[in-house]
Amino acid sequence: MTVLVTGASRGIGRAVALILAREGNRLILSSRPSPALEETARLVRERGAEALIYPADFTDRESVSALAEKLCSQITGLDVLINNAGQALSAPVEETREEDWDRLMAINARSPYFLTRALLPLMEGSDRKTILNIASVVGHEGYPLQSVYTASKHALVGWSKSLARELQPRGYRIHVISPGGVATDMVTGVRPDIDASQLIGPEEIAEWVRFLLTRTGKGMVDHINIRRESRQAW
Ligand SMILES: NC(=O)c1ccc[n+]([C@@H]2O[C@H](COP(=O)([O-])OP(=O)(O)OC[C@H]3O[C@@H](n4cnc5c(N)ncnc54)[C@H](OP(=O)(O)O)[C@@H]3O)[C@@H](O)[C@H]2O)c1
Repeated sequence: MTVLVTGASRGIGRAVALILAREGNRLILSSRPSPALEETARLVRERGAEALIYPADFTDRESVSALAEKLCSQITGLDVLINNAGQALSAPVEETREEDWDRLMAINARSPYFLTRALLPLMEGSDRKTILNIASVVGHEGYPLQSVYTASKHALVGWSKSLARELQPRGYRIHVISPGGVATDMVTGVRPDIDASQLIGPEEIAEWVRFLLTRTGKGMVDHINIRRESRQAW
């Protein structure tokens, strides 16, 4: 299968790319350009799979549109789109700024919408066409100090539910995975006080992605929440 993974330079995105590489899929990898993204591509190739790098800034509408245009002109077909790139913010509401709202909405909610809308023509001919969105437990519940992040993930979850009902009759599978705290830069960056050993490993999320991509049933939306016993997001 040809699989596009956004946010592939590190964390969950890299773990997903590497697990899918072991199954011989062709990986299209995106995030902002960086040595880390190149490293993911190297690791994918080391596992015997093809890796293509298509950098973009997912907070920037022009950059996402340019990415979609390039893919539509250079790739012949796409089976799986994994909308994973994201940013978080931990701050009391009165310390959040309008630009934080715009940035988190842009990357966490608008970029999956833009990318999916633009890439549907590439996916239409696939008999495995699947859109998998990485949301969060904050997409279902409110968490203190995470109001902006929570709003953006609620938007992603609501959009995914509608997308599932709209596209399922055309043969699409829509999945949403909503992890609790995962041991990546996202958490250690904003909450250095947290004990990373108490968090879920990114490889565990990647295992769920791989499992969902093996589903061939007619189920409309597979919505998986993964959390440890703690009800804290992180
Ligand atoms: N970690 C958690 O506890 C947790 C829990 C629930 C859900 N999630 C979700 O899981 C997804 C992956 O997060 P993670 O934990 O793996 O975080 P991470 O390690 O910080 O990785 C985030 C990924 O998104 C990319 N990204 C960030 N800003 C970008 C931008 N402006 N343009 C393009 N790419 C950008 C990063 O690439 P560059 O910075 O190199 O561009 C990186 O590849 C996110 O949607 C996040 O909300 C995470």
